[in-house]
Amino acid sequence: MSVEPQTRRLTATDIRSRKGGTPIVSLTSYHAHTAAIMDPHVDFILVGDSLGMVMHGLESTVPVTLDMMILQGLAVMRGSKRALVVVDLPFGSYEESPAAAFRSAARIMKETGCGAVKMEGGVHMAETVRFLTQRGIPVMGHIGLTPQSINTMGGFKVQGKSEASAAAVMADAKAIAEAGAFAIVVEGVIEPVARDITREVAVPTIGIGASPDCDGQVLVLEDMLGLSPRVPKFVKKFGDLGGMIGEAVTAYADEVKARTFPSADHVYKTKT
Ligand code: KIV
Repeated sequence: MSVEPQTRRLTATDIRSRKGGTPIVSLTSYHAHTAAIMDPHVDFILVGDSLGMVMHGLESTVPVTLDMMILQGLAVMRGSKRALVVVDLPFGSYEESPAAAFRSAARIMKETGCGAVKMEGGVHMAETVRFLTQRGIPVMGHIGLTPQSINTMGGFKVQGKSEASAAAVMADAKAIAEAGAFAIVVEGVIEPVARDITREVAVPTIGIGASPDCDGQVLVLEDMLGLSPRVPKFVKKFGDLGGMIGEAVTAYADEVKARTFPSADHVYKTKT
């Protein structure tokens, strides 16, 4: 009798141990099927709260709820078997206190089975990162351009341009790393600052609109596939799924209108 070899899922500890090694590959996914397709090729799958904008057409990630994250986190866990799955803590579910953050993170982990959560914020969230990691919850940090703070940041603004801003992002990275985060997403940070952060912190940095010298990169799947209506300038398009869907739907609509689509007879094999 042959026994199927069990695929071991990567863990937060595996990702942590990749500091300075082979670049860490990551993409977002919110669905079982896209998760299954990317699973053999990525180290971790991020169930990002960008799902609010990408799937639901929201203007920002602010309205995303814990229930939305759990539903999509479950789908991604169902579709994947090898990559670490990291689920975002949405706005309003963790900032109030370490205890509130623990309750939300524990719900995500229990109800999805994912291996880690991600939270935005630097120095001011360090106490919360420590509280969670000391209680068994692996935390990925997220600093620089933090989309949940769009209303106080005044838009999606690149960080680290001035000396003060560069120093603040560096302080955020160090605080989160020292508090126990196993990796840190560095978003929208100018290249030299992202490079310095990568050199100075002991945990892997995962860049997005930052620097190829980060320890890895994450992109929003729909952005790199050409499926999002608005794509950040730094994203390279690896496909044109939007164009392909448009062409396919046009061809389909033309066939339906002309009644030229194939009959199902050859499938049913009916005798008349
Ligand atoms: O929600 C998300 O997709 C993210 C990435 C942009 C890092 O947080």
